[in-house]
Amino acid sequence: MKNYINEGICSQCKLCIKVCPCNCIEANAQDEIVFIAERESICLKCCQCMAICPSKAVQIDGVSYSEDLFDLPGYNVNEKEFLNFLSARRSVRNFKDKPVPDELIQKMLESVWYAPFGSHPEKVQITVINNRKKIEKSLPYIAKFMDGVVSMIENPIASFFAKKIAGKETFNTIKNHLYPISKIGNYNLEYGDRISRGAPALVIFHAEKGAEAHTNNSLIYSTYAILAAHSLGLGATMIEIISSAINKVKEVRNIFQIPEENEAVMSVIIGYPKYKRAVKRTMQEIDWIK
Ligand SMILES: Cc1cc2nc3c(=O)[nH]c(=O)nc-3n(C[C@H](O)[C@H](O)[C@H](O)COP(=O)(O)O)c2cc1C
Repeated sequence: MKNYINEGICSQCKLCIKVCPCNCIEANAQDEIVFIAERESICLKCCQCMAICPSKAVQIDGVSYSEDLFDLPGYNVNEKEFLNFLSARRSVRNFKDKPVPDELIQKMLESVWYAPFGSHPEKVQITVINNRKKIEKSLPYIAKFMDGVVSMIENPIASFFAKKIAGKETFNTIKNHLYPISKIGNYNLEYGDRISRGAPALVIFHAEKGAEAHTNNSLIYSTYAILAAHSLGLGATMIEIISSAINKVKEVRNIFQIPEENEAVMSVIIGYPKYKRAVKRTMQEIDWIK
């Protein structure tokens, strides 16, 4: 047993028992607070037990109070500031001709490690392409890939199999959203870059195919990243067609150096925005069941 409770200083308040999401801690027959040996393997190491313990008696293996925990800050963003911040963020698809320093992208991505995650968060990998030339190199392949989407939808047999393989949700997104945009020639490079929108930098979230929770984790991480971009004065947009092309077109995968065994879940374009104002949102109805 590597996790333990320091009996000498435990006040037996039992808060650790209450907060443990996996019920790994109990009061034994002698009313001592202990970790349950048979449950140690399911400990998530979320450290909520350490975070709540008034006397710092709980010890999770490899975690230290001085190095890994910190006091909650006394301030907090109030609800008005928070909603103002969110309401002023929109997807930015128009960028100044100005490179983004690596350090700013690094800062933006630090936000990701504060995101909630499903099992094995470390399995999501992040690749930054801060090189417009490399992004441009991928565009003809992505444009061709989007032409292929049109041909696939217009071919009943290909469509039938695509639906079976990709599932209804993805198929409907392609058919009802991407197909009409692509069919009208939107991604044709003659009309300019409507794929990466002239962005100076691109971030790709990817993971080994089949890795636990990697799709959800990547989507949450990319959401945090676009919010962080907004806080840093950058503009960002999630671009799924780039990640889809990475998965289907080997040239795109190679340009962005995404490992063969990995699947790209989301890509985010970033750059300096040009907008002067934000657009109001329509609030959707919420069902309240009481
Ligand atoms: C899962 C997902 C995939 C997206 N893929 C694309 C894309 O391929 N191309 C694009 O221009 N925008 C893409 N977006 C951005 C959305 O179009 C954008 O978030 C939406 O229009 C709402 O606008 P807002 O972000 O300004 O509020 C994507 C967004 C999400 C959440």
